[in-house]
Amino acid sequence: MATIETIRKPIAADLEAFDSFVAENFSAEGELLQEMLTYALSSRGKGIRPMLTLHAASLHSANATEATESCGEERHTTKRTYLAAMLVEMIHTASLIHDDVLDSADERRGRPSVNAKWQSDMAIILGDYILARTMAIGMASAQYDLLSYIGSAMATLCEGEILQSQHAQRLDTTREDYFNIIYQKTASLLGVSAALGALSVGASREEVDRMRKFGEAIGIAFQIQDDILDYNRQNNTGKPANNDLREHKITLPLIEVMERKTAEERMAIIELVKRCDKEEGAVDELQRIVDEGEGTKYAAQTMQAYIQRALHLLYKYPDSPYRAALIELCAFIAERDR
Ligand code: FPP
Ligand code: MG
Repeated sequence: MATIETIRKPIAADLEAFDSFVAENFSAEGELLQEMLTYALSSRGKGIRPMLTLHAASLHSANATEATESCGEERHTTKRTYLAAMLVEMIHTASLIHDDVLDSADERRGRPSVNAKWQSDMAIILGDYILARTMAIGMASAQYDLLSYIGSAMATLCEGEILQSQHAQRLDTTREDYFNIIYQKTASLLGVSAALGALSVGASREEVDRMRKFGEAIGIAFQIQDDILDYNRQNNTGKPANNDLREHKITLPLIEVMERKTAEERMAIIELVKRCDKEEGAVDELQRIVDEGEGTKYAAQTMQAYIQRALHLLYKYPDSPYRAALIELCAFIAERDR
């Protein structure tokens, strides 16, 4: 079983330096704001995005040694890499704070959400503050190439969130809509996380694009697994199961089942989804339909195809501890229960 600890091992020193870098750069004026910020930053979760940035940077430093020796160019992890990792992690943190407001979620990672603790208006301002500080730090560092990726990633996240809300209201999510949504809300930022790691150490255009594709493939897989876990009442995510149904989100496990039903049966399923925000009985019935139709099994097969795509991109690199850790990350994403 792949673990976060083994994935972290080759970049342990960098992760420590990264944490200090975040602590040095992120503090707030005002007691309450500082308290809220400390709370939000102390439950940052698995840290997949900064891990991806640091690994992608190291992969291209290690991998680049031979290729760049001849041209005398030096590539290694620097503060620019930590900055890149911080930019992606803070955008992610702010987006989750806002997401919990939109979803009226009371819990995040097994703890009260910021909106549950300080109300929604404060949570929105805290998210905005994190975004504003992130951009200010980025601008002050004058690393505009990194920032241009970050700017478009922020816009894409918002596009994904709006698209998802639209479909939650209309209850008309097709497989194609689902993939558009998860690309925008999850895969795009993971793609940028990996791309920026490579870019931060001076990797070539081709390498940066390859890392972006790698991050996007694991991002799609990551979100599919997230949506599978939502149908697993024994999961360890720290979030209540079946929340997607209560939020009227039609995700891959249900889409897989619906695609195997008649038009009439599909209509009956939509009628059940409509009632999920008010009736736990409707939630139970849909969980039963997904279990019976093996929706999570089919969704897992689709997820595996993305994992294979990601691995294929990694095999273009020679073996190194960073490549091995990224291979392990692929396994972790596919196997995780939290
Ligand atoms: C979590 O998804 C939410 C996201 C990955 C993106 C949220 C984006 C926004 C709220 C747009 C705002 C953007 C910025 C840059 C502040 P989920 O609801 O499926 O996962 P969950 O179950 O963990 O809540
Ligand atoms: Mg949510």
